[in-house]
Amino acid sequence: MSLIRKINYNKKFNKKCFNFTTPSHSQGDFVCPDAEKILGRKFYECDYSETEGFDNLRAPDGVLKELQQNISKIYTSKSSFILTNGSTSGIVAAMLAVLQQNDEVLIARNCHVSVYNGLVLTGARPVWFLPEKDEKWDIFKSVSPEIIERHLKSNPLIKAVIITSPTYEGIFSSIPQISEITKKYGAILIVDEAHGALCNFSRDYTGYAPAIVSGADISVHSLHKTAGAPNPCALLHIAKSSKVNPQDIQDALNLITTTSPSYPLMAAVEATVEFLFSRNGKAEIRKLYDMVEDFITKVSVLENVEVYSGFCDKSKILLRVAGIPALAVAKILNEDFKIEEEFSNDNSLLFLTGIGTSKKKFEALLQALREMSAMDIDADFLCEKTAIALPSMIYTPREAYFHPSEYIDTEKAAGRICSEVILPYPPGIPLILPGEMINDENIKFIMTEKVKVAGISRSSGQEIPEKPEKFI
Ligand SMILES: Cc1ncc(COP(=O)(O)O)c(C=O)c1O
Repeated sequence: MSLIRKINYNKKFNKKCFNFTTPSHSQGDFVCPDAEKILGRKFYECDYSETEGFDNLRAPDGVLKELQQNISKIYTSKSSFILTNGSTSGIVAAMLAVLQQNDEVLIARNCHVSVYNGLVLTGARPVWFLPEKDEKWDIFKSVSPEIIERHLKSNPLIKAVIITSPTYEGIFSSIPQISEITKKYGAILIVDEAHGALCNFSRDYTGYAPAIVSGADISVHSLHKTAGAPNPCALLHIAKSSKVNPQDIQDALNLITTTSPSYPLMAAVEATVEFLFSRNGKAEIRKLYDMVEDFITKVSVLENVEVYSGFCDKSKILLRVAGIPALAVAKILNEDFKIEEEFSNDNSLLFLTGIGTSKKKFEALLQALREMSAMDIDADFLCEKTAIALPSMIYTPREAYFHPSEYIDTEKAAGRICSEVILPYPPGIPLILPGEMINDENIKFIMTEKVKVAGISRSSGQEIPEKPEKFI
C-alpha cells in the first residue's frame, strides 16, 4: 500500500485510534486557528508519526520501504531515499557515507554550501578546483573531465569527487566522461543534481541523461525546486552499479535528520514522483519545454536580448540585455513589471521555470523584455565584475569550525583567516570558507554585499601552519 492510500484509507474509515502519541494535535483534533487559516485542516489530518502501520523512515520495513522501492524502480537506482530536509541533507549524508576524517575529496568550487557542511562533519580534506568561467555570462562552465583526470592521476588519495550538474544556472557536465575517469581511479562520484529533478523525465528536451544512469554513484534531486513539490522535498539515489552501501546512507541520514519526518511531505514526495512518471506528468513536462521553446523563439527576435544556448537545461532561462548591466535589468523588472528573477549576476539574469510555471508568467516576462528592449537606458547602470580566485586554505573546514574565533571589523579582515561561510545567497555558493585566508578582493566584495565576517585571531596564541593545505 502506498503512503497516500494508507492516509486516505485511515481518513475514509475513520481509523483514528486513541493515540497517546506525537503529534499531540491527533490528526487535526486540535488546530491553532491562525495555522488553520493558512494551512487548512487537511495538513494536520495527514500529519502522523511512526504509529501502527506508518512505518519508520529510519529503518523502513512497511509502507515507507515500499514507497522508497517504488521510487527506486522509477529512477532505476539501487536504492532511493526520501529526504524531508532537502538535498542539503542528502549531500551531507552522501559525504558521511563515503568519507572519513582526513580523506581527500575533489570538489568543484561552485558547490552548494551543504558540501561545506559535509566537510565539517566528516573532517575530510577538500581539494578544490575552479571550473572555467564563462565571462560573458558570468557563470561557471561545465566541469572539464581533463581537470578531474589530472587531479585523480596526481593524487591517489582522493577518495571521492563532488560536482554540481546541472549547476544553479542549468549548465550540464558530461557525467559519462567524468564517471569513466572516477571509475578508472576508484573514486566515488557524487553529483549534486538538486536542480535536475526533472532530468529523468526531460531527456528528450535536454539531451542530458540523469547522473546515476550515466555512471555517477550518488545523486540528489530537489523535487521542490523545479518538480512542483513543496519545500524541501528531495530524493537521494544510489546507482545500481555503485559499490556504495545503502545502509551507510541510511546510517548517515539517521545521524543528521529528524526522528520525526513530515508525513505530509513524504506524501507530497510520493504524489510528485508518481505524477512525473505518469502520462499527465509527461504531458506537463512537454508543455513546460514547449513553452520555454516558444518563449526563447519570441525573445530571440528582440534585438538586444540574448538567451544562453550552451549545453544546459533550457528550463533555466539565462538571458542578458545587451548594453544594460543585468542588475539594472533586474531592478527594472522588479520595480516596473513586478517580475522577480531567481538570480542575477553582473552579466546575466536567471529565470527558473518548472512544473507550475504558467503561460501567463512567460507572457509577462516576454512583454517586459519587449518594452525594455525599446527603452533608453541610463549608462550609470554599469557595474563592475567580481574576479574569482581560490583563496588559500590554512585550516580544513572542520579545524576552522572548532577553532576559537572573534568578530572583527570587516575592513581589518585582510590577512585573517575566515571562520564563517561568506555566502552570497542565492545561489548559496560559498565565496570564502572557514579556514581560508581573506584577501583585499574578498573585503571589497564583502563590504559591497554587507556580509559580516568572523575571523580566527592571529594573536590568539594559535600558530598558523607554515604550509597551506593542498589546493589548485
Ligand atoms: C546546487 C544546489 N545544491 C543543493 C541545494 C540544496 O537543496 P535543498 O534546498 O533541497 O536543500 C541547492 C539549493 O539552493 C542548490 O542550489
